Amino acid sequence: MFYLKYRPRNIEEIDNVRVKNIIKKILAVSELPHAILLVGPKGTGKTSTARIFAKAINCQHPVGGEPCNQCINCLSINTSSSTDVLEMDAASNRGIEEVKNLIKETAFLPMTAKYRVFIIDEAHMITTDGFNALLKTLEEPPGSAIFILATTNPEKLPKTIISRCVKINFGLAQKADILRMLKRIAAGEKISLPDEMYTLISTNAEGSFRDAAKILEELMMQKIKTIAEAEAFLGISGKNGLLEIVAQGDIKKSLEWINEFSQNGGNFKNLIGDLLDELRLVLLAKKGLAVEDVPQTVLTTNQTVMLIKLLMEAYQNLRSTPIESLPLEIAIAEFYNKKSS
Ligand SMILES: Nc1ncnc2c1ncn2[C@@H]1O[C@H](COP(=O)(O)OP(=O)(O)OP(=O)(O)O)[C@@H](O)[C@H]1O
Ligand SMILES: [Mg+2]
Ligand SMILES: [Zn+2]
Repeated sequence: MFYLKYRPRNIEEIDNVRVKNIIKKILAVSELPHAILLVGPKGTGKTSTARIFAKAINCQHPVGGEPCNQCINCLSINTSSSTDVLEMDAASNRGIEEVKNLIKETAFLPMTAKYRVFIIDEAHMITTDGFNALLKTLEEPPGSAIFILATTNPEKLPKTIISRCVKINFGLAQKADILRMLKRIAAGEKISLPDEMYTLISTNAEGSFRDAAKILEELMMQKIKTIAEAEAFLGISGKNGLLEIVAQGDIKKSLEWINEFSQNGGNFKNLIGDLLDELRLVLLAKKGLAVEDVPQTVLTTNQTVMLIKLLMEAYQNLRSTPIESLPLEIAIAEFYNKKSS
């Protein structure tokens, strides 16, 4: 799998530039934090970054702050077999007993490394009792112990836990960062594709490095070479057309378009998200902001605002609809009603 083969293994390979810089700064100060909280959506690099951090502070031959990826400490961390860097999945070890066992572990000195690092993934899954047991140790862990908590749901973590950690926000992976990762993989795999293909992948990866790497791999497996083939494979064929058809005011054509999109297995969440992106640019441009790639449209400012509101509602309703296409169909129908009233 590309996403495992090209998992970043040193600080330089962390394609999320913002996170990379934060990690560098933390490593540069003389006293390391004893608890770090990594917050971000799926596939944005939390686990990878936790391991890189553990390697950077435990590597036997670091070069310019980077882990060597060759010493016994680096190698064992890469294969999750280190006795000093322990990874616990809180989704399946969430109770007080598991947390107590973990706390007991912190009393032992590291075997080959300098620090014992405890990586707790999906940390929000820990039970209330578990958190309470963890609090004191988080605040004053033994000098050789460092905790790294990772979570996709920070709102489920007690404030008392959060306030004891140095927090790093990952956010959604940025398109430019995803592009850099894709190019890194392409270079490694000797893949050459037109630039638009990488752009297409990065806009359809839902802000996840992992999803982007997976799409690239799927396209390669399907021997897909052209944008048209890729769009068809991703179920997004001709998606740029809808806004134009809607603006021109033909409700029948608009609904036909949506119906066809639906039958081709298109993803409505992506579609509505992209339409909102485009409409936002239209709105900003109408208000005189210098934005790039603004779609041409005959919509007025009022109509643009109206459509944005309706589409935002449709986006929300996607969660509860039994028929994927319905929220968008309703939004479009309502748009025409309001427009002509
Ligand atoms: N900063 C990054 N630079 C390059 N590739 C990345 C980066 N972050 C993640 N990836 C890619 O995405 C994959 C998943 O990353 P990782 O497991 O670190 O994410 P995560 O945030 O822990 O996700 P989850 O919440 O699903 O556990 C990696 O194997 C790697 O291929
Ligand atoms: Mg993870
Ligand atoms: Zn090393």
